[in-house]
Amino acid sequence: MIDFAKRTRVMGRSIKLGHCICNPKEPCPCDLFKRKNVCLCAGEREDDAAEDAPLTQFVENAGCASKISQEDLKKALTGLPRVFDSRVLVSADTCDDAGVFRLSDTLALVQTVDVFTPCVDDAYLFGQIAAANSVSDVYAMGGRPLTALSIVAFPIEKLSPRVMNRMLQGGIDKLREAGTVVVGGHSIKDKEIKFGFAVTGVVHPKKIITNAAARPGDALILTKPLGTGAICFAAQIGKAEPAWRAAIGRSMAALNRASAEVMIAAGVRCATDVTGFGLAGHLGEIAAQSGVTAEVWAGKIPVFGGVLDLLRKGIISGAVERNRESAARRVERESGVGEEFENLLYDPQTSGGLLMCVPEKKAAGVLAKLKARGAKRAAIIGRIVGKSEGKILLKRGSR
Ligand code: CO
Ligand code: CO
Ligand code: CO
Repeated sequence: MIDFAKRTRVMGRSIKLGHCICNPKEPCPCDLFKRKNVCLCAGEREDDAAEDAPLTQFVENAGCASKISQEDLKKALTGLPRVFDSRVLVSADTCDDAGVFRLSDTLALVQTVDVFTPCVDDAYLFGQIAAANSVSDVYAMGGRPLTALSIVAFPIEKLSPRVMNRMLQGGIDKLREAGTVVVGGHSIKDKEIKFGFAVTGVVHPKKIITNAAARPGDALILTKPLGTGAICFAAQIGKAEPAWRAAIGRSMAALNRASAEVMIAAGVRCATDVTGFGLAGHLGEIAAQSGVTAEVWAGKIPVFGGVLDLLRKGIISGAVERNRESAARRVERESGVGEEFENLLYDPQTSGGLLMCVPEKKAAGVLAKLKARGAKRAAIIGRIVGKSEGKILLKRGSR
């Protein structure tokens, strides 16, 4: 039902101005009004506002590939004031997963925020993935997530509010699984869907797990396979098999909670989660912050089905190129290791696994526990071999 009184009031002003009052770049009457007799400014919506439209149609870069590159970020952050407050135990200076703020000798806050564009078409699944990804940074710091605030950008004039509802429901359900309560949120109108959470957790100040504590002799354990970026990109250009997409969907929606519990119980000091900057980017931060060289064994990296073939065929997204620009200076590929494995290191992950540095003696035990707790494809993918300014050696095997 059209509210003509409202329309006359709102449109009267718009027509006088010659601009739509909601989007001044549009003339009034606008194209949509002329074509479909719908005035968005008067709160009217198209009857056929999409309800089951595939979400990735509404984005340019899917998932964590929508991150601003490390290089661009460095430029954008140059000259900004650094934090000098003794209560700040971990700040953005060290490129860690989350900030940590000491409240008392036994309690510190862990805070992080992660927002990205849809990497899957189903709204509920996307909500779960956004939530799993958002709490992951707290787990990577050894913390326990307690509360979350949702952040939503949504094309409410084009897509049904029911889509947003399902997205939020997926997020809330996943966070409940994480023992985390959604206490509020914020939403804005946008052309592109973006969704995520700001998460607050707690950690004991002496038990913070950072990216700066890797030591020669540590084994590198990765808890989820790589390749979500490659498959998301392939899906966008119609080259991904449904089974591949289903496999990454399950993995991206899986919490890193159990893996983090295993890691904390084992007394691990150094870890991160593998997300938008890819394995090379996030392992590179560990290597650089710890001042060590990491060796990665190509044949041991868990990979989703289809990914290596996609990379061999040159199905490589722009996000891989941006990650390469940031991380390639650290990476040395041994002759005999295929280029696809190096590209795999640059593949941006959405809600990827934890990457832990585990003292060699404990590694086998930790791996067995991870598998028993659900990280079926966790693997030892390399080791820390010596001191350096932060190198990654990509080798074939563990000789
Ligand atoms: Co209008
Ligand atoms: Co992280
Ligand atoms: Co993050």
